[in-house]
Amino acid sequence: MHTLEQRTAIITGASRGIGRSLALALGQAGANVALVARSFTDLEEMADEMHHQGCEVLTIAADVTDAMAQAQIIQSTLNRFGSLDILVNNAGQCDVAEFHTMDEDRIRQILDVNLTAPLLLSRLALPHMLQQRRGHIVMMASVAGVIGTPVLDVYAASKAGLIGFTRTIRSSYRGSGVSASAICPGLVDEAGIYARVKHETGIKTPFLAGSVRPDQVAQAMLRAIQRDLAEVYVNALPLRPLLLIQTLFPRAAEWLFPLLGADIYRRALCTYELKRTPQRRSD
Ligand SMILES: NC(=O)c1ccc[n+]([C@@H]2O[C@H](COP(=O)([O-])OP(=O)(O)OC[C@H]3O[C@@H](n4cnc5c(N)ncnc54)[C@H](OP(=O)(O)O)[C@@H]3O)[C@@H](O)[C@H]2O)c1
Repeated sequence: MHTLEQRTAIITGASRGIGRSLALALGQAGANVALVARSFTDLEEMADEMHHQGCEVLTIAADVTDAMAQAQIIQSTLNRFGSLDILVNNAGQCDVAEFHTMDEDRIRQILDVNLTAPLLLSRLALPHMLQQRRGHIVMMASVAGVIGTPVLDVYAASKAGLIGFTRTIRSSYRGSGVSASAICPGLVDEAGIYARVKHETGIKTPFLAGSVRPDQVAQAMLRAIQRDLAEVYVNALPLRPLLLIQTLFPRAAEWLFPLLGADIYRRALCTYELKRTPQRRSD
């Protein structure tokens, strides 16, 4: 999709974190934007900020795992803007936890938000996109879906699922005018899940991960939509060569990554999780 001017985009998880930067970038590129998240107040603040910048915005306070809400997200957007060109599946949740200590409901909840909801929203968006022979679906995946990232097991499984789903959408709908991209950031600084963990723990970003800012993720998303990129690995060096090693020589990666800081990171996250466990139980 060469231009985003006057295109209509839905972005989930737009109330905070990386989603704010994604929404701003879409609005600044000229798209009409439907902002989705559960917290009404945060969405309204976001909408005010975007209105001041001259963007056309709609807010939809909804839980993406709710079937009725999923239909309402698509329908309200069509009612307001008359078309749907871009769906950004960004809403996500993540627990830092040793897998065997997680309860079943929480595992299902993370998979519902991170994986099932993007699939179901895409299923509802696709007929409209196919009819107009134009559309792009963005999955906010993660490097965690490619590299075995310690203590993020369920999250990693959901992100690997999104990458697989993106590849399949691209091949199933080739030639239809509808396509998809997976954006795979590594650790993101300044806003979002990792920035909060970093703030609470004082953890140092491991050398192998590098880090990027939310606005760099947003630029990666715009490039992916405009150039129809399949997968974008946002963090550059040293992560990209390491991803190649992981893909071609997985055993070598298991040996190499701890030397580059993965083990220190795992220990720090486990300590963080142990400190938080009593609090999580009372949440
Ligand atoms: N931060 C990183 O380092 C990083 C790295 C790679 C990938 N990512 C991915 O980037 C995306 C955004 O992450 P973030 O770091 O910005 O997280 P965040 O700051 O926790 O923001 C998550 C967003 O998702 C929304 N959300 C969560 N559950 C929802 C639900 N059930 N229904 C509707 N909205 C829901 C939240 O709003 P409400 O709470 O108001 O609903 C919020 O707007 C996620 O998919 C994440 O996996 C993040």
